[in-house]
Amino acid sequence: MAKLVVSGVTKRFGGLVAVNNVSFSLESGRILALIGPNGAGKTTLFNCLTGFYKVNAGTVEYNGTNITNWTPNRIAVLGISRTFQVVQILQGMTVLENVLVGAYLRNANTVAATDKAIEALERVGMAHQAHELAANLTLPAKKRLEVAMSLATEPKVLMLDESMAGLTPTEIANATQLLKQLRSEGLALIVVEHVMEAVMPIADSVIVLDSGTKIAEGSPRDVVSNPRVISAYLGDKYAERVQY
Ligand SMILES: Nc1ncnc2c1ncn2[C@@H]1O[C@H](COP(=O)(O)OP(=O)(O)OP(=O)(O)O)[C@@H](O)[C@H]1O
Ligand SMILES: [Mg+2]
Repeated sequence: MAKLVVSGVTKRFGGLVAVNNVSFSLESGRILALIGPNGAGKTTLFNCLTGFYKVNAGTVEYNGTNITNWTPNRIAVLGISRTFQVVQILQGMTVLENVLVGAYLRNANTVAATDKAIEALERVGMAHQAHELAANLTLPAKKRLEVAMSLATEPKVLMLDESMAGLTPTEIANATQLLKQLRSEGLALIVVEHVMEAVMPIADSVIVLDSGTKIAEGSPRDVVSNPRVISAYLGDKYAERVQY
């Protein structure tokens, strides 16, 4: 049972408070949707939780251990993995080689790492592209490759930053099916997404950020009817569009 507890995390860039005193907790087997307008601080929060940015204030605890400002590698070893909004794959390597980078985190042996990498590629439906050059993939496929790279590290907490951007409705259905499957296997997921139709039906809870501040938290149903969320982000057509 994994538990992430975020308390009062604050990140400033000069005078800009990109993440302002954000707190929440997340347990295994739950999907947390993190939503909000462009520039709200979603990616910055991911960077704070995974050690890519040092926080100015606040703490991040994982299973009772204070991991605030640990290095990204130590955090990955603990079992917290993330994808990047701007993809960070190795363009000159094959799809499989990229996923092997993740798989080697827990498998020193090449055969075992390759098995793990192929399993991760199968999960995202990319096994048939294992030997393609990563640079030749479409952007949505590159994002899917990042999900496989993360899965190959065998995470307990998985954070996805707009992984479903640019997908067709069928691809979105496949992606949400995978997220539900991962939840049922006990992962804790934080999903940053602008595609509300994809994420709201599967989210157990939702946090809304606006200008770095958490302005709402609750079930999808509660959050979408919150007037502050509607005015900051969703707009009043939202309730008519999304069924759940
Ligand atoms: N490295 C940085 N240096 C300075 N300012 C930054 C940096 N990273 C982010 N910011 C600023 O912090 C704020 C939050 O940005 P962030 O990228 O976290 O937003 P976001 O919610 O992920 O937005 P989007 O939905 O567009 O991805 C923005 O005002 C952004 O310009
Ligand atoms: Mg972002």
